[in-house]
Amino acid sequence: MPQISPGKSTPNAFPHEMLREIYEQPAALRRTLAAYLKEQDLNPSIAASLAAWSNPSGEVLIAASGSSRHSGLAAEIILEDLCGLAVDVEYSSEYSLREGAERRHPSVIVLSQSGETSDTLASLRAARRRGHRTLAITNAAASTMAQEADVSMPLAAGIERAVPATKSFTCQLAVLYLLALYECARLHQMNAATLAAHIAALRALPDSIESQLDPWRSQIAALAAKYKAAASFLYLGRGVHYAIAREGALKLKEASYVHAEGYPTGELKHGPNALVSDRVPLVVLATVDPTLDGSVIRYEKTIQLLRDMQAQGARVIALANTGDTTVPALVSDCIFVAPAPEHLLPIAEVVPLQFFSYFMALEHGVDVDRPRNLSKAVVEQPVA
Ligand code: AGP
Repeated sequence: MPQISPGKSTPNAFPHEMLREIYEQPAALRRTLAAYLKEQDLNPSIAASLAAWSNPSGEVLIAASGSSRHSGLAAEIILEDLCGLAVDVEYSSEYSLREGAERRHPSVIVLSQSGETSDTLASLRAARRRGHRTLAITNAAASTMAQEADVSMPLAAGIERAVPATKSFTCQLAVLYLLALYECARLHQMNAATLAAHIAALRALPDSIESQLDPWRSQIAALAAKYKAAASFLYLGRGVHYAIAREGALKLKEASYVHAEGYPTGELKHGPNALVSDRVPLVVLATVDPTLDGSVIRYEKTIQLLRDMQAQGARVIALANTGDTTVPALVSDCIFVAPAPEHLLPIAEVVPLQFFSYFMALEHGVDVDRPRNLSKAVVEQPVA
């Protein structure tokens, strides 16, 4: 396996852009939060510009591809749970080709790191033709999507060079969470104290992630060596964590060429469990927000599944809260994630999965920054 110099502060610590960009996430998140918050509060000028997108019907449609669509899946849960909006998430390659009358009147969000992906741009244009209000969340403030949408919320992730998205993904999650807070304020869904608590928790996240990077890096380099012979992985998550299971699986495929799929945890026994074997381990998201009843219920059901998987002899890598003693006793390997509120946990828990993809890529000798057959932005010529 290629050697990585220890320490994160010297340039030589990062032999690949992907590793550098994983490490840049705390700074990228801080810049992104600074762009959308005014000290400890929401920024009234951003609230005013979002008025051109907000929707009286409460319907939202998100169109995106790949990792960007996975942040959309997380946003679906966040916007529904926190704001009571009704959210649909579409593949932009499908939405852009749909025809027929649309009786709904959703406000549309297009999510794209590049702001140029052909299918997502076509979705934006289709939404505008249908008369929907549009919001583009991209990492390129001058991109075509940012310019054509009614409202633009650029990320401040900085240029992302590696093909596997890392810092753009966590910054998308942060902006979508901020969007939820702006919508909660507009809809009077949160009182001032609750809003302030959500903002404080969001602001605390970059420091928390930063303090976990080096321990994750060394633990997960060893895990990749241990699991490198696996033929496939099944990633499992419930609720907002399902989006991260999907993202973890996509990241592994594109970075290391190892097959993986993401499923809702409760679907395992409805088919995929037939695949589980010594060569097909599970990666189970088993973090919990103990202050939220729904999260505790999901956690308890996941614990039951882990018991069943232990009895079945499955190899399981779990993600669990730092300090959890139940999960580690039920699984082969456990990666700890510092506790955070349920809807913010995804921003932290995807990072160890990014490390896992990175180190699996090294184990498999893949050029992780430029995996075969992939490009940073999928821009296609229009069909003649
Ligand atoms: C992410 O790691 C992938 N490279 C890919 O799935 C990407 O997210 C997708 O092609 C969409 O790109 P975009 O965000 O630039 O629109």
